[in-house]
Amino acid sequence: MAQRNLVRVLEGETVFPPPVWLMRQAGRYLPEYRATRETAGGFLDLCYNPDFATEVTLQPIRRFGFDAAILFSDILVIPDALDRGLRFQQGEGPKLDPIRPDEIAGLDPGRAEAHLAPVIETVARLRAALPDETALIGFCGAPWTVATYMIAGHGTPDQAPARLFGYRHPEAMAALLALLAEMSADYLIRQLRAGADCVQIFDSWAGVLDEASFEAFVVGPTRRIVDRVRAAVPGARIIGFPKGANALLPRYRSATGVDAVGLDWAVPFELARDLQRQGAVQGNLDPLRLIAGGQALEEGVDRILEALGQGPLIFNLGHGITPDAPIAHVEALLARIRAAG
Ligand code: CP3
Repeated sequence: MAQRNLVRVLEGETVFPPPVWLMRQAGRYLPEYRATRETAGGFLDLCYNPDFATEVTLQPIRRFGFDAAILFSDILVIPDALDRGLRFQQGEGPKLDPIRPDEIAGLDPGRAEAHLAPVIETVARLRAALPDETALIGFCGAPWTVATYMIAGHGTPDQAPARLFGYRHPEAMAALLALLAEMSADYLIRQLRAGADCVQIFDSWAGVLDEASFEAFVVGPTRRIVDRVRAAVPGARIIGFPKGANALLPRYRSATGVDAVGLDWAVPFELARDLQRQGAVQGNLDPLRLIAGGQALEEGVDRILEALGQGPLIFNLGHGITPDAPIAHVEALLARIRAAG
C-alpha cells in the first residue's frame, strides 16, 4: 500500500494539496450524528459502544471523504476510568466531581484497562472498515487540560480553579499530572497497537498558563507521554495541539518532540513557517470563517495554502467545528483545498 498522505506529512514530506480533516468532524452539525446519538441515548453510550462509535467516526468520511478519521471518544474517558462521576447533560458541558488535593494519592488507575477496552475495540474495527487511503487518528487529552476539568468539575472560561490549585498545592498537582501522563500514554499505546496511524494530544487549555506553569504543566507531562509512547511503539507519530500557546509553540515543539504541532487561528503565519522548518504543522482556519462561508471562508483557506502550502501541512481548523457549521460550507472548504492542486 502507498503511504497515507497524512502519514507522509507527519514524516516531513510536503503534499499538495494538503491532507485535510477537521477537529470534531463527527458531531452535532451532522444530521446522521444526531440520529445515532438519539438511538444511543447519551453521549457516553456513544463513546463506549463500538457499534455506535464506529458508525459516527465513519459518518464524516462517507459524506466528505476526509483524508483522516479521528476515533470517536472524548478526552474525559480517562477521569471516567478513575471514577470521577463524569456525566453529560444535553445542552450543557461535562460535569465531574471536583477533586480535592487529599484525594489524589488515592486515585486508582487499575480500572482503566478494562474500562477503555471498548474504545480500543472501536479502533480495531475502524482500521478494518476505513478506506485504505484514509488515515486513522487516535487521541487523548493532555494531562493539564484533563486536570482542569477534574479540578473545577466543569468547563470554565479561564481555568482559574486549576491554576489556583497549581499554585496552592504544587505537589498534589504534580502527582495528578504524572498519573494522567502515565495513564494517557498507556491508552495511546493501546490505540496505536490496535491500528491508529498516529495520535493527537489535545491541550485545549495550554494558553491560560504563565511561562513557568506552561513548562511544568504542559511541556513536562507531554514530554513524558511522548517518551513513554515511543519507548513502547518505536517511531510512533504524534501530533501535539497546545491551543493558545502561541509564542511558546517553538519551546513546546522542541521540548516535547512531537512530530507535528497543531496551530489555533491566532498563530501568525510567520511563526507557523518558522515551526514548519522543524516539521509538520496542522491548522489553522478560524472555525467562524467556516460558519460565515463565502468570501471569508475562501480567503481564509487561500491564505493558509499560500503561507504554509510549500511545507509539510495538514489542513484543519484552529479548533473544533461547531454544531452550527453548515454542511454546504464544509463541502466548499474541501472543494477549495482540493482545487488548489
Ligand atoms: O474530533 C472528533 O470528531 C472526535 C471526537 C472528540 C469529541 N471530543 C467528541 C465530543 C474529540 C477529539 C473530543 C475532544 C475533547 N473533548 C476536547 C479537546 C478538544 C477541544 O474541543 O478543545 C475537550 C476539551 C473535550 C471535553 C468535552 N467533551 C466538552 C467540553 C464537551 C462539551 C462541549 C460540546 O461541544 O458540547 C464535550 C462533548 C463532546 N465531545 C461532544 C462531541 C461530539 C458533544 C456531545 C453531544 O453529542 O452532545
